Amino acid sequence: MNREKKVIIKELTIEKFSQKGKAIAYDEKKNKIVITNAVIEDVILAELNKKKNKGIIKGRILEILKPSTYREDPKCKHFDICGGCIWQNIKYLYQLEQKQNFLIDTFQDFIKKTNVEMHPIIKSKNIFEYRNKMEFSFSQNRKKTKFLGLIMKGGRFVIDIQRCFLANIWFSKVLVEVKNWWEKYDFDAFNYYNGEGFLKNLTIKEGKNTQDKMVILTVSDSYTLNDEEKKDFIDHVLKSIIPDKKISIFFNTQISKKGVKTTFNLQKLYGNDFIKEDLNINALGKKIKLSFQIGPNSFFQPNTHMAEILYTTAINYLEKQDIKDKTALDLYSGTGTIAMILSKFVKKVLAIELSENACSMAKDNMKLNNIKNFEMINGDVSKILPTLLSNKNFEKPHIVVVDPPRSGLSDEAIENILKIYPEIIIYISCNINTQLDNIKVLTEKNYQLKVLHPIDQFPHTFHIENIAILKKT
Ligand SMILES: C[S@@+](CC[C@H](N)C(=O)[O-])C[C@H]1O[C@@H](n2cnc3c(N)ncnc32)[C@H](O)[C@@H]1O
Repeated sequence: MNREKKVIIKELTIEKFSQKGKAIAYDEKKNKIVITNAVIEDVILAELNKKKNKGIIKGRILEILKPSTYREDPKCKHFDICGGCIWQNIKYLYQLEQKQNFLIDTFQDFIKKTNVEMHPIIKSKNIFEYRNKMEFSFSQNRKKTKFLGLIMKGGRFVIDIQRCFLANIWFSKVLVEVKNWWEKYDFDAFNYYNGEGFLKNLTIKEGKNTQDKMVILTVSDSYTLNDEEKKDFIDHVLKSIIPDKKISIFFNTQISKKGVKTTFNLQKLYGNDFIKEDLNINALGKKIKLSFQIGPNSFFQPNTHMAEILYTTAINYLEKQDIKDKTALDLYSGTGTIAMILSKFVKKVLAIELSENACSMAKDNMKLNNIKNFEMINGDVSKILPTLLSNKNFEKPHIVVVDPPRSGLSDEAIENILKIYPEIIIYISCNINTQLDNIKVLTEKNYQLKVLHPIDQFPHTFHIENIAILKKT
């Protein structure tokens, strides 16, 4: 039977990257074509899917006819298929140039029409082994072959990872040893499509400034490990690291039932309840060292050294003399890292955070650092701000810092920030598009965008962290 061929072969030149880091080419009919692992200016022979998906044709490289001058050999042998990094085959300085260009494109109206200061992106202190946390997945195919690692590029399958260069080598050693442990048993990986199976994730964390280590095995409640299996798990983890280092090991059971809020049953198997991480901040002429306890469920910025630079850079836009008798508000504060740093420069800081767990961690960390001029409020920014504003004794803050999730600020949050009407708004964001939308609204209402200062926290990915400084007109 003469089957119709499902692919087309074409010579293409890569013209640009999308904001999601994908390499884009156009054919003679101006169809948009996305090519995995290609680099701007590559001339390639590509195999293209015949069918469009959401108006886009996908393809893969068959042969690089003329490699781009921006190309670099990836360090990682998993790069071709692993979804962990998409830009490891691009020279780092060119990755930065691309991120800077994304920001310039996004904020072009402000750049053309106002005198906003646009700063060059601050490069990451390390371009490999910069992450302090990784989450790996357990998975099995139909033949029950076991996989433990990261999700494939553009796919949903997990691939085995022997060495991931985004984190220190001990993360990979633990990963390989946990896979060896799994091979000894017939536990199934959890299947997210039918909700069956047992092993879900392996999360690994470290304090970059303390070398404390943590390993968390997350499972479903379809089974539980017996004491011998747990001991064997601990032995495998310990075998893979230098024994004199501090390590905590946790067994985390996720209990999910339809219509009921998911809960976790966390059991410590070994070591301390927390790891410690230090932040060294050198802002407004003052050197500050703060210590943080990080539990198995607490959020901490994933690139410690760049978090230090992010916070330092943002705070350096304040005037030390102007703020010492003033109050500050840290919205979407996580575990209160920014608030704790700010507390060293202002009279009082108030922080609002939705996660109960993050709030309780913040309170512990306040005690650990002996900080007394900081109050943490647990709740939704959109609901807490109106309550604060309705209180006659509420002292309107001089500074408002916002670091919202990717979705940005809600309309209610913006409305209430405008009612507070602070002198300065520091807007930190990991999504420059929602940041732009929010800034447009704020600048229509008596604020001026003064500064844009991007920071690279995640080399080899398209992600940008951006600080925007807004001041009252
Ligand atoms: C990007 S993180 C900020 C983390 C923190 N600023 C830091 O540097 O560690 C965003 C935080 O906003 C919190 N959040 C999300 N929606 C919220 C809401 N409606 N009200 C308050 N906090 C919220 C999340 O729980 C998360 O901790």
